[in-house]
Amino acid sequence: MIAALDIQVTKTAKSKINEIDFNNLPFGKYFTDHMLEVDYANGEWQKPVIRPFQNLSLSPALSAIHYGQSIFEGIKAYKDRDGHPFIFRPYDNFRRFNISAERMMMTTVPEELFIEGMRRLIDLDRDWIPMKSDYSLYIRPFMFATDDTIGVHASEKYKFMILLSPTGPYYSAPMRIYVEDKFTRAARGGVGFAKAAGNYGGSMMATAVAKKRGFDQVLWMDAYEHKYVQEIGTMNVFFVIGNKVITPDLESGTILEGVTRDSAIEVLRQEGYEVEEGPVHIDDLVRAFEAGELKEVFGTGTAATISMIKELQYEDYTMKFNTDTWKAAPAVRRILMDIREGRRADTHGWMFKV
Ligand code: COI
Repeated sequence: MIAALDIQVTKTAKSKINEIDFNNLPFGKYFTDHMLEVDYANGEWQKPVIRPFQNLSLSPALSAIHYGQSIFEGIKAYKDRDGHPFIFRPYDNFRRFNISAERMMMTTVPEELFIEGMRRLIDLDRDWIPMKSDYSLYIRPFMFATDDTIGVHASEKYKFMILLSPTGPYYSAPMRIYVEDKFTRAARGGVGFAKAAGNYGGSMMATAVAKKRGFDQVLWMDAYEHKYVQEIGTMNVFFVIGNKVITPDLESGTILEGVTRDSAIEVLRQEGYEVEEGPVHIDDLVRAFEAGELKEVFGTGTAATISMIKELQYEDYTMKFNTDTWKAAPAVRRILMDIREGRRADTHGWMFKV
């Protein structure tokens, strides 16, 4: 165990920051000057290091590569109007990270290592946090198994790392979504609630097929009946029906417990919307659409923030929406952006000062 977080810091000899066009930041393409790295071995966490961003040298027998013990998180840092850096809800991602670790039979990461390690790294690379609205510094903590034997068992060694990537909006335009009727993402008893790397690998074929048909992403349905809505690609999903907002509940363990999902629920309730978490049946959505009651559909996620859905394709039935007239999704988007960028008081205690 680490008493007070002692980090060995090696700074880069030459910053890359002037090579980056901060007006053009595709998601995940650029990384800051430094990264955090720490190994777990012999039953304990070793001394963390912050060093220049660089390649790793790893055994080809690395168990994460062979058996998939690999998890990650997505968090964002912003600057307020005075240029002070803040991280949005890092403790919630920390909690979820260790839930993922436990499900994948991996060691957990101490709070101080996760939070203080992240804070120190961001502090060092604070000049990389974009000041432009809707832009941010995306934080990618991740951990993978580093045993170098190919026996199938939970690894005894792990590497935990944090990378930082300045980024613009993930999806910039309202999206066309295909309601997935063949592939599934997660079943009860599986790892759907964990941010396990394999969940993303397993979803790529469905997304590729949908993209070939002209859609941006898929809306996952439950694994048994293909009737109950789960989540969209990299986002949780919300529907405004009449005056109520509904979103799939987390009881099945097949849906990621999104931090932005939780923030959206709180903001919507504060704005006077009734929000219901429960099973969402596709036939009920179609009926509501036909009755003119299905008013808005939107996704929530750290990378995606709040993304409006302009079209849902269910089998041969198309539901189209005019997003210009929407109220709930734009309100949540604006309020969250204002809190994150320091234009609105953070009454929830979501912003963690670096
Ligand atoms: C996020 O929203 O942070 C994600 O992890 C989704 C995706 C970019 C993998």
